[in-house]
Amino acid sequence: MSAVASVKDPAREDPTSHPVQISCQHLWKFFGHNGHSLLGTPEANLPQAELQERTGCIAAIRDVSFEVHRGEVFVVMGLSGSGKSTLIRSLTRLIEVDSGNIELCGEDVRHLDPAGLRDLRRHRVSMVFQQFGLFPHRRVVDNVAYGLEVQGVKRAERYQRVEELLKVVGLSGFSRSYPDELSGGMQQRVGLARALAVDPDVLLFDEAFSALDPLIRREMQDEVIRLQERLHKTVVFVSHDLDEALKLGDRIAIMREGSFVQVGTPEEVVGAPVDDYVAAFTRDVPRAKVLTARWAMRPFGTRSDRSSGFGDRVVAASTRLQDVLNMVLQSDEPVGVVDDEGEIIGELDRTTATAVIAGSPLEGDAPGPRAQAGKTHGEGTRP
Ligand SMILES: Nc1ncnc2c1ncn2[C@@H]1O[C@H](COP(=O)(O)OP(=O)(O)OP(=O)(O)O)[C@@H](O)[C@H]1O
Ligand SMILES: [Mg+2]
Repeated sequence: MSAVASVKDPAREDPTSHPVQISCQHLWKFFGHNGHSLLGTPEANLPQAELQERTGCIAAIRDVSFEVHRGEVFVVMGLSGSGKSTLIRSLTRLIEVDSGNIELCGEDVRHLDPAGLRDLRRHRVSMVFQQFGLFPHRRVVDNVAYGLEVQGVKRAERYQRVEELLKVVGLSGFSRSYPDELSGGMQQRVGLARALAVDPDVLLFDEAFSALDPLIRREMQDEVIRLQERLHKTVVFVSHDLDEALKLGDRIAIMREGSFVQVGTPEEVVGAPVDDYVAAFTRDVPRAKVLTARWAMRPFGTRSDRSSGFGDRVVAASTRLQDVLNMVLQSDEPVGVVDDEGEIIGELDRTTATAVIAGSPLEGDAPGPRAQAGKTHGEGTRP
């Protein structure tokens, strides 16, 4: 796996304090003849290969529950066939699940009538796919304006909005081009502009950048981060690429054979993988680039008598370990770790910092999840 180019800024606001905008509870989806009859049976939990052999069916989603908050980027990762596309498509009922509840923007999606579902898809939720899905015979402007056209927005207003959007995604001047006159990266920018055109609350990306070459792909990721800083959409982003997940995700769900095996912040997934499957995903990640001082520190329970003795040897809790190493290595004495209010909340010494970076087990006051207590971005590491 390639080195992580960049990781989400840990000092960025935690969106899990915002209201929930997507809530899925106990979703199940089987493919195959009479698949739904497996619901609630012991077979439903069999390993995929065995289930398929015995019943001819596949459990694409197994008891998946999660919530995504307004403005949050929730990444779903997993190997090919783990159920990512099935899950993201089920959110707007492009695929119908066999059981469970889906709430999107306050709507009970599974019980929407056709008109309600149409309204949800036209106004509230947009999707960006890997195959850009542009209309080849339409110019860029009419591709981007498509959703507005369907909504019945007048032509002049459509075009004005599209011009603004093309500026936003860096495609000013290309409105008259046809898709096949653009590079793959540019076509996906059109796809992104089209998704944004209806100003949706929720954006769903399914491997949207996977077909792009690495440089363009990184540019598109940066684009999403830039847009997100401005627009604060609620995003579900499917990817099989850990670099992408770490860069974009506020939280990451790791999927395997239809189940979520771990849901957590990038730090939680990299620093405390729940099993070998997750560990295998994250093994090659440079931990110093992902884990922060908060993660590695020994937290002070209540006010400690150590809390004032650090002088200027203090670091912000959100600083990544790679950026505190110099200071930590300079002395045998620990450095103080301060929160946003400037209060000392823990300390970090040379031995702990290097052990955490190396991924070695520590005795006694273990760093990581304990230091995160009261600060995790969600429901913890286990779904
Ligand atoms: N329409 C379908 N009919 C039968 N089986 C299907 C169908 N769609 C998906 N599956 C199966 O369900 C499982 C999950 O598929 P899904 O496409 O959701 O995986 P994925 O995680 O998106 O994979 P990839 O990374 O390759 O896109 C796979 O075993 C797949 O073969
Ligand atoms: Mg897929």
